[in-house]
Amino acid sequence: MEIILQPDAESASRLAARLIARLVREKPDAVLGLATGGTPLLVYRELIRLHREEGLDFSRVTTFNLDEYIGLAPEHPQSYHAYMREHLFRHLNIPPENTHLPEGLAADVPKECEAYEQAIRAAGGIDLQLLGIGADGHIGFNEPTSSLASRTRIKTLARRTVEDNARFFDGDASKVPRHCITMGIGTILEARRVVLLAFGKSKALAIAETVEGPVSANVPASVLQHHPVAKLFLDEEAGAELRRADYYRWIYANKPAWQQDA
Ligand code: F6R
Repeated sequence: MEIILQPDAESASRLAARLIARLVREKPDAVLGLATGGTPLLVYRELIRLHREEGLDFSRVTTFNLDEYIGLAPEHPQSYHAYMREHLFRHLNIPPENTHLPEGLAADVPKECEAYEQAIRAAGGIDLQLLGIGADGHIGFNEPTSSLASRTRIKTLARRTVEDNARFFDGDASKVPRHCITMGIGTILEARRVVLLAFGKSKALAIAETVEGPVSANVPASVLQHHPVAKLFLDEEAGAELRRADYYRWIYANKPAWQQDA
């Protein structure tokens, strides 16, 4: 894992966006795995800026989102379909047919999950997967004790995740769907690169356990210790519980020039 500690979410997000932009320039038909929630918003803002001001071209890019709530139509304002349209897709020149999210109203959920896995395979796999992290260490909606080999499937949101996400539903936890379709941890691990973002002190414990704790299904993100190319972009608050923070800063400050892609 590479730990990139930045003073604030803005600078961390700019670096992560730069990495994504570089991939898209080098491989115009890149396959991106995307996330929702509060964390990636600044990365999306920066990608939109790079598209508008520097001509970053998304016309051949394909995307797969991590997850979607079960029971919400794509038009529902709190659906992840709506989030992605609003915060990213409508601002880029990405063809809508190149963007994929699980179907929250699928009549046959297991079939939808298998079709999603198949679509990722047919696209050649994910080049770079963007992740946030839950305060309980979840990635996607793979809550603690999710199988580390899991594939795209239905999951029940943990109570804490329901409460955390109530802020997107007028603060009313009873409006938050209880189920979702999420890429599995095994699915995420197959992405060729993983970029995890975490900001704020509510993520500090989960980050310390992810980076410096044992690999455990109790902290799903800790499985990224097994990923060959996982980069974590953190602000100071999210990195506050890391015991080896000075070491990570040292490594970053001494990165060879040819390795400085972020
Ligand atoms: C979102 C997702 C979740 C979030 C996580 C953090 O697609 O899969 O794992 O990344 O719940 O959410 P925020 O960013 O709102 O703190």
